[in-house]
Amino acid sequence: MENDAKTVTIRKLRQEEEIEARDIVVSAFYGQIVTLRAAVCFVLAVFSGLRHILEPLIFCLYVILGLLMTIFHAVTNSVLISVVLTAAWSLPTAWGLIYCSFYGLYVRSRRRELDHLYSYYNGKAGSKFWVAVCGEKIVGTVALDRVSDTVAELKWMSVLPEYRRRGVGTRLMKRFEGFCRSERVRKIRLHTSRIQPEALRLYQKWGFVWTNTTSLAAMHGHYLLQKLI
Ligand SMILES: CC(C)(COP(=O)(O)OP(=O)(O)OC[C@H]1O[C@@H](n2cnc3c(N)ncnc32)[C@H](O)[C@@H]1OP(=O)(O)O)[C@@H](O)C(=O)NCCC(=O)NCCS
Repeated sequence: MENDAKTVTIRKLRQEEEIEARDIVVSAFYGQIVTLRAAVCFVLAVFSGLRHILEPLIFCLYVILGLLMTIFHAVTNSVLISVVLTAAWSLPTAWGLIYCSFYGLYVRSRRRELDHLYSYYNGKAGSKFWVAVCGEKIVGTVALDRVSDTVAELKWMSVLPEYRRRGVGTRLMKRFEGFCRSERVRKIRLHTSRIQPEALRLYQKWGFVWTNTTSLAAMHGHYLLQKLI
């Protein structure tokens, strides 16, 4: 099979490939946001936020929802319709806000890095950007952004949809972690989210565990994971 993981090799990114790699990373990112699954994940996240209701920002959010419901109730005189209207108004609005602030801004704030992957990762001591290639085509990416001598951040893990579930992500993880061990990195950390359940499973399989994050971030479904090696 042409897109079998065995026909894929892992190597460092070449300068002439940085735009191709960037496009794979960005499309993998956005490909997960504008989906029904992401919307459902977000709805679940809103409900899981109830656990943090005593925290100021989250409390304000629910107060706004309560006010809206009261207004809709005053107009329609029906509890059911006011709940439905509040949900219909709030979920897409909040989802849009989160999309713009969290995901839109996240990628935007890293635009300089994404547009210059080669120079960014080659210019920073201890950092690396690897690609999985099949023939001459890039089918996967992963980056190591060095935070300190002993701490590394895993970024931009992505595999082209038609190459997924064939062990390419695993091979990228192996290369990443092997390099960390050879460099005596002690801690690997990474950010992921509820809308990336495949990635979450991959990281958990590799021994990453959930660590501190703010409850607002938890409500977005944003996770900070880490692994000590
Ligand atoms: C996450 C991603 C890189 C995994 O790549 P992959 O090549 O499919 O991964 P592998 O085939 O090596 O699978 C490794 C493990 O990941 C998990 N996994 C991957 N895809 C999965 C899926 N669709 N459902 C459930 N688990 C999955 C499994 O634990 C799997 O191990 P198993 O095969 O023994 O069950 C890929 O799905 C992807 O690019 N997703 C979109 C981008 C993304 O979310 N990046 C992470 C940013 S934080």
